[in-house]
Amino acid sequence: MKVMVVGSGGREHTIVKKIRENKEVTELYVLPGNGGMTQDAVCVDIGAKDIDGLVAFVKEKQIDFAVVAPDDPLVLGAVDALEDVGVPCFGPNKNAAILEGSKVFSKNLMKKYHIPTAEYAVFDSASDALAYLENAPIPTVIKADGLALGKGVIIAETREDAKKAVHTIMEDKVFGKSGDHIVIEEFLTGPEVSVLAFTDGKTMIPMISSMDHKRALDGDKGLNTGGMGTVAPNPYYTEEIAKECMETIFLPTMQAMNEEGRTFKGCLYFGLMLTPNGPKVIEYNCRFGDPETQVVLPLLESDLLTIMQHIANGTLAETEVKFSDKAACCVIMASEGYPQSYETGFQITLPEKHDNIFIAGAKQKDGVLVTGGGRVLGVTEVADTLADAVKQAYQTVENVKFANAYYRKDIGQKALAAEV
Ligand code: AMP
Ligand code: GLY
Repeated sequence: MKVMVVGSGGREHTIVKKIRENKEVTELYVLPGNGGMTQDAVCVDIGAKDIDGLVAFVKEKQIDFAVVAPDDPLVLGAVDALEDVGVPCFGPNKNAAILEGSKVFSKNLMKKYHIPTAEYAVFDSASDALAYLENAPIPTVIKADGLALGKGVIIAETREDAKKAVHTIMEDKVFGKSGDHIVIEEFLTGPEVSVLAFTDGKTMIPMISSMDHKRALDGDKGLNTGGMGTVAPNPYYTEEIAKECMETIFLPTMQAMNEEGRTFKGCLYFGLMLTPNGPKVIEYNCRFGDPETQVVLPLLESDLLTIMQHIANGTLAETEVKFSDKAACCVIMASEGYPQSYETGFQITLPEKHDNIFIAGAKQKDGVLVTGGGRVLGVTEVADTLADAVKQAYQTVENVKFANAYYRKDIGQKALAAEV
């Protein structure tokens, strides 16, 4: 069986390694992948957003199954284009990927179907938004409507900052057309939980919960990043809360999308906040989270490709999805200076055994693996307890070497404090 994975980061490396475990797979391609994946798959120099290129490739190689991992190609309709030429895919169609592609859509959907989320208002003009802000409760949250590389959310602590955000998003257009419309939303508080769920539109199977660490510096200080580390499971997410989320959020979201004629199949990511008034949705993503995937999939005991095929067939209920009851911790090693400016091109040395090291930003240069991005790699360890997973992940980090390496020292500490 010939399988292709679209994308190039640590999430895709994790998916590639998992798919390789399936003995039916004879050829595995990753488009474009990165220089750190070459032992696990054939990297093909076709960009994830090059839909015509993806289609030409599946025809040329007669690909049997495709996994589209990142948000951009999903929102652009990569799955529709690949299905049109007869390739079964894991990932939502364009009309369902809008759940992540438009915050205005997702907020309106939640309102219509009574799915708990922050109170909000939508604005199409800067003047209306600025007038609203004169009396809005502070802090407040400003969100660009469309995809904005994970940077389209601004938490404004003062009225001035909120107004500045409206100017930069709607007038200066720092996120381009994503800022044509904005959502201004109530500031919520409480622990955050990421829950990824498999769904084919009929069945919804949440995966093990996880906790991201989005800020660049220890103690949740500094700039927002794509994620500096993760742990799973998330100790705040008790069985009772899981049950409540299933009833008030997960199943209602699946049904709402069906009602709208936008059946969602693939991995639906729920970014949740456990507020004093119950769990609420902070955001939906139409794909696996990164770096959540680096702790969630290593705990998956069932075969990933089989699950993905069942989702494509609409038969998810017929397959087993089993997670280990162990814990996992992933520490992201980045280039010093990320998420702003940083240097790359430094040689990376990995320990001999590196099954659970997932490469995100690296390239091959004269046969040597060198750094090639902000987030360079993720080091994951799985253990019986979260404390051991955290300890072992940091031990392995000591054995990964590259110049200008930066990582947070406190991944998992908040979760460990919540356990007791
Ligand atoms: P996002 O880019 O959508 O992942 O949002 C980035 C982060 O902003 C989230 O992980 C939350 O920490 C925070 N955030 C988003 N919306 C809210 C809100 N309504 N209240 C408080 N924090 C929020
Ligand atoms: N870790 C958050 C995301 O994947 O968007």
